[in-house]
Amino acid sequence: MTTISTAPVAPLLDRLFREADAASPLASPAFEALTTEERIRLMRSKDDYRDLYASLKDFALPVSRETGQLLYILARATRARSIVEFGTSFGLSTLHLAAALRDNGGGRLITSEFEPSKVVIASAHIAAAGLSDLVELREGDALETFRHDLPDTIDLLLLDGAKSLYRDVLALVEDRLRPGAVILADNADYCPDFLEHVSSVANGYYTMSFTDDVELSIRL
Ligand SMILES: C[S@@+](CC[C@H](N)C(=O)[O-])C[C@H]1O[C@@H](n2cnc3c(N)ncnc32)[C@H](O)[C@@H]1O
Repeated sequence: MTTISTAPVAPLLDRLFREADAASPLASPAFEALTTEERIRLMRSKDDYRDLYASLKDFALPVSRETGQLLYILARATRARSIVEFGTSFGLSTLHLAAALRDNGGGRLITSEFEPSKVVIASAHIAAAGLSDLVELREGDALETFRHDLPDTIDLLLLDGAKSLYRDVLALVEDRLRPGAVILADNADYCPDFLEHVSSVANGYYTMSFTDDVELSIRL
């Protein structure tokens, strides 16, 4: 028996993914009004990311089902006990990672989200999954919330907040990533400085494009 494949987590994830499928960000008037060029500019911007995510605050924007499964497998395979997640949203990826911690025998997942309404929604989902004891949800910009009280050692890092900040968030936790720690970055192609950094063995990483969406790296 695993936490990920049984109630309450499995049916909750199934419902949340179905709800996310039914609610496209394109249904947001503010987002729909943007041209493709403007969307790409906002995704890459280190200044305007708050406006972008404010316009998307009612949308779950989860990792794919497959990426969620991959996160669970990676956290189990590395016997992770200490996980940091950038970008909580409605908590779908959080549920996968916290379920892995439960099945690994316990641990601590620190996750950060700056949209207050999303913090309320994610907290309710984590509670409904019976995983609240494993998750510390920090409300605020991860560039601030990850500046203090991080574990000495981090086993797994998920980067899924503002794409332009991946390199900056990595810099905040880099010294704590243990050798063998896994970094999964969703849609990293919007963050060339992150890709350049993890592409260099001299910087202490080995990396691959796992899928079109997912960059998978290991701390050497
Ligand atoms: C793609 S969604 C995350 C989806 C989530 N990982 C999942 O799979 O369910 C990105 C989230 O990151 C949040 N976010 C973006 N930049 C952030 C920042 N600098 N600090 C905290 N949260 C941020 C956004 O508000 C949004 O909810």
